[in-house]
Amino acid sequence: MKNPARYLVTSALPYANGPLHIGHIAGAYLSADIYVRYLRLKGADVKFVCGSDEHGIPITLRAIKEQRTPQEVVNEFHELNKKTFEQFGISFDIYHRTSDRLHHQTATEFFIKLFNKGEFIKQASEQFYDEEARQFLADRYIEGTCPNCGNEKAYGDQCEKCGKSLSPEELINPHSTLSGKPPVKKQTTHWYLPLDKYQDEWLNDWLISKANVWKPNVYGQCKSWLDQKLQPRAVTRDLEWGVPVPLPEAEGKVLYVWFDAPIGYISATKALTDDWEKYWKDEDTKLVHFIGKDNIVFHCIIFPAMLKAEGSYILPDNVPANEFLNLEGNKLSTSRNWAIWLHEYMDEFPDKQDVMRYVLCTNMPETKDNDFTWKDFQSKNNSELVAILGNFVNRVMVLTEKHFESKVPLAGECSDLMDFMLKQKSAVATSLESYRFREAIQEVMNVVRHGNKLLTEKEPWKLIKTDKEATGIVLFDCLQIIANLVVLCEPFLPFTSQKLMLMLNLNPSILKWENIGKMNLLTPGHQLGTARLLFEKIEDEIIQKQIDQLHGNAAAIIAPVTSELKTVEAAAGKPAISYDDFAKLELRVGKILSAEKVQKADKLLQLKVDLGHDEVRTIVSGIAQFFQPENITGKKVTVVANLAPKKIRGIESHGMLLMAEDSAGRLSFVSPDEEAEVGSGIS
Ligand code: 2FM
Ligand code: ZN
Repeated sequence: MKNPARYLVTSALPYANGPLHIGHIAGAYLSADIYVRYLRLKGADVKFVCGSDEHGIPITLRAIKEQRTPQEVVNEFHELNKKTFEQFGISFDIYHRTSDRLHHQTATEFFIKLFNKGEFIKQASEQFYDEEARQFLADRYIEGTCPNCGNEKAYGDQCEKCGKSLSPEELINPHSTLSGKPPVKKQTTHWYLPLDKYQDEWLNDWLISKANVWKPNVYGQCKSWLDQKLQPRAVTRDLEWGVPVPLPEAEGKVLYVWFDAPIGYISATKALTDDWEKYWKDEDTKLVHFIGKDNIVFHCIIFPAMLKAEGSYILPDNVPANEFLNLEGNKLSTSRNWAIWLHEYMDEFPDKQDVMRYVLCTNMPETKDNDFTWKDFQSKNNSELVAILGNFVNRVMVLTEKHFESKVPLAGECSDLMDFMLKQKSAVATSLESYRFREAIQEVMNVVRHGNKLLTEKEPWKLIKTDKEATGIVLFDCLQIIANLVVLCEPFLPFTSQKLMLMLNLNPSILKWENIGKMNLLTPGHQLGTARLLFEKIEDEIIQKQIDQLHGNAAAIIAPVTSELKTVEAAAGKPAISYDDFAKLELRVGKILSAEKVQKADKLLQLKVDLGHDEVRTIVSGIAQFFQPENITGKKVTVVANLAPKKIRGIESHGMLLMAEDSAGRLSFVSPDEEAEVGSGIS
């Protein structure tokens, strides 16, 4: 739909029977959040709704297992998941819940409307029943042996071990999970939505019209459902927990969870705004459902069928479903605890939301399943966020602070840069509007790469010696790039965008898409804020801890991921490394300009080290017990120059001195010859 008047964006309502993991986020939430943040920057009228799906068998099963009521279970996870989404920066306009009265009322009215229009078929059939528990059994309540792989704990609808879809009839030794007894067949009556009739009347044509519009993975699944011919689908169940079927003859029955859950999008919108009908009933609204691939049939076939049958609602414009995210080579599994739980991640890395957002976005399973690994997480943080984005911003801020007292220098003629930014703006917009989020974030990173290239080519740290005005022009351009990045990064990395805004001393009025491509977002003379670290390097130990934790927590059924690579042990006890590994180090000759003790830290000295190219670094080093500050000034030292900056006792240390340690633990400098020029590379 071109130029809609407004947008309604939904993310699948997660079941409130457990916490969220990164697979959920990569499936239906991060992409939606990026899309919505982009629309908001454009000034679009958009509502972003979600909430907890609080009905359904898994919730009842958990409640039975834990001897709690279903309401107690959903209360716990609704609160946890709502908070986790907030902490992670998923910016819903409302996070509603389906056990809410407003939802029950909305779902009830929806059912009644369809009932009164005569849309349902009422039909009796034989279903499995537990005579001891006196309850009809949904497929999930029946367990038995999988005929395919022999798993003795396969469910009546699926075997979680081999993934095969099953029906209760196919299970060997089926038994009820409530009483353990074999189920019997008993007659019951339910209400069905005639999907077969809708397929012939309009659903086929409507879906075919999406053939070249929806993502191939989404359309492909719909097509295969259509090819198999749709069947009438029961929208009621014999259960206690759910929205009661509002008919006198339907006592003991509730609406099928997949009938009431998508209506949850409507009740959430109602709770959000009195204007809700505009978002659901006006043809000029663009309705987009973000979901994972296991929800495709419900959002592309069944919910549209319900909406159309009701008669006054619009249908989704698009359903950009993602495939699945795997974890360290294995399928994510809640029951086997093979997952990275988002609330635990937030506890361990409270200020690293954007690192996870970046990794999940660059790895988003848009067209096929993808894998998350902790090593990749580390490498994307260290070699992309720290080394490309963080490094660019830091170099520009520090140079401006040093040579221009943190004031924006005088402008140059930056029309080339403006053309480049406009091109990138349009590339990012096109990718986002086509739901290609991986591509979009790469285009943002290309802007940063462009900035780094500018610095490498113009070498402002050298240029300053001969031409302050020209240096100012380079820095002016780079600062405008950073100001553009405040806006460009916002949908993807909102916390970073915020930090950049503070660093540049700008206010939130900059956050408009129309500002991208402008080269006057910062005027000459504008006072910048203080440079702060955007990202910090993540060390191997931290990553190893996460990997160990994952394997340690997982149920035994997950085979540990073993590496094919055998490392060769070197004589000194550390594994041998390749030349490429060594070449990643940037070693440089430095000269200590000054040294002073760090207060209340016996072992630390704070050093100013000249690294040549007009660069002076602050380095905090654990050498105070061996050297007096006055004895080491003027000393030439070997510096690991590309070590990511790190805060030590509140001081930002950027680099490390190489030291030799003897068997008694005494330290001495690894010093280059006195002739070595400060700033020379060491290889
Ligand atoms: O698969 C799930 O997690 C479902 N709770 C999604 C529901 S989406 C919507 F229809 F509410
Ligand atoms: Zn199986």
